[in-house]
Amino acid sequence: MAFNRNFNRKNTHSYKWDMPRLGGKRPDDIIALSVADSDYPTAPIVKRALRKRVAHGAFGYTYVDDGFFRAVSAWTSRRYGYRPEPGWMLTAPGVVNAIYWTIRACVAPGETVVIQTPVYQPFYRIVPDGGANLTVNPLIDARDHYEIDFADLEAKFRSGAKMLIFCSPHNPVGRVWRRDELEQLVALAKKYDVMLVSDEIHCDFVLFDNRFTSLASFYPEYEKIVVLIAPSKTFNVAGLKFSLIIAPDADIRARIAKTLDTNCISASNPLSIEAARAAYERGDRWLDCQLAHIEKNFRIVADFFRDNFPEAIVYHLEGTYLVWVRISFLGRPVKQITEELIGYGLALNPGSMFGPDGEGFVRINLACGRRRLREALDRFRKYANDIINNDKT
Ligand SMILES: Cc1ncc(COP(=O)(O)O)c(C=O)c1O
Repeated sequence: MAFNRNFNRKNTHSYKWDMPRLGGKRPDDIIALSVADSDYPTAPIVKRALRKRVAHGAFGYTYVDDGFFRAVSAWTSRRYGYRPEPGWMLTAPGVVNAIYWTIRACVAPGETVVIQTPVYQPFYRIVPDGGANLTVNPLIDARDHYEIDFADLEAKFRSGAKMLIFCSPHNPVGRVWRRDELEQLVALAKKYDVMLVSDEIHCDFVLFDNRFTSLASFYPEYEKIVVLIAPSKTFNVAGLKFSLIIAPDADIRARIAKTLDTNCISASNPLSIEAARAAYERGDRWLDCQLAHIEKNFRIVADFFRDNFPEAIVYHLEGTYLVWVRISFLGRPVKQITEELIGYGLALNPGSMFGPDGEGFVRINLACGRRRLREALDRFRKYANDIINNDKT
């Protein structure tokens, strides 16, 4: 498997590696552990499927067939124990896009939508863009992991919120929500009649002995649930722009389908469909190897901070390939830290980009080869030691 090859994505118009805005400022040998995509090629079976489709040569209008939806359902069934009906699924060109149109379809202008912060940054903008009011239910920082503040969430629901955009597993804090937490969440939503929109794009990255439960498995106990999944993170095909909306309730599904249709939103791209089909039909073994790779990379990062900077806190990584590290011991704003790190050849995401409660943190992307990860950590060490030594003098 190619997870450890020194894979070069420069000059492919990669957002992470080639952004012109950053190009002028960055040294040639920058290591980017930032944007959430992977620095190894997709699974060979996905490449083969794409090659075959490209070789055919015609890329006319395409539809998503029932066999494809059955493959998705078989994937979630064998990996996570829930089997959505093929007829419950719609497609969209990406998960953010799907959430946005779900807000537009299901929330009236001026109604309130809750998000749980710190969180993937587009959540902050798609809610107002979708015409709704944004309110936040901050997660509780329990020193090395986060928990849901159910009392605050209930207060938000009681005061009239109509929807929660849930992130499961959670980016950037790395939680895989336990079944008992989800039960509590569903009970609250049911009590206050709040729709749950669960972004499960990272559900295939469940690490160590954690177990993933999809909110979709709570249907028919509660019908106001919409789940979004995609092969994009799992198989490094985010640029192909494809996602699945699982909406078991017929009325909700009809509303979303009509909104997508009215706004001419289609995900019927022959390449993304073929990539997703191959991934869901035959991607298990490759994914399992990738998970073992991410777990090893996490250990490297955890050991690095324990041995070099024990004041840092590496949050438990239960899911995703994005590790959340508190580095407030460096005593300066994280935006400044990540800007200064560029000068040492390292690009990381500042926690503050995920909301004000991300201040003091950086997010490190582990989906890369081991040699590159070690080199990145060396660069971090050099930077942090320079700061610490400078502050002493
Ligand atoms: C939680 C979450 N949702 C959605 C996305 C992006 O999905 P898409 O590119 O399909 O819109 C990301 C990417 O990092 C993410 O972390």
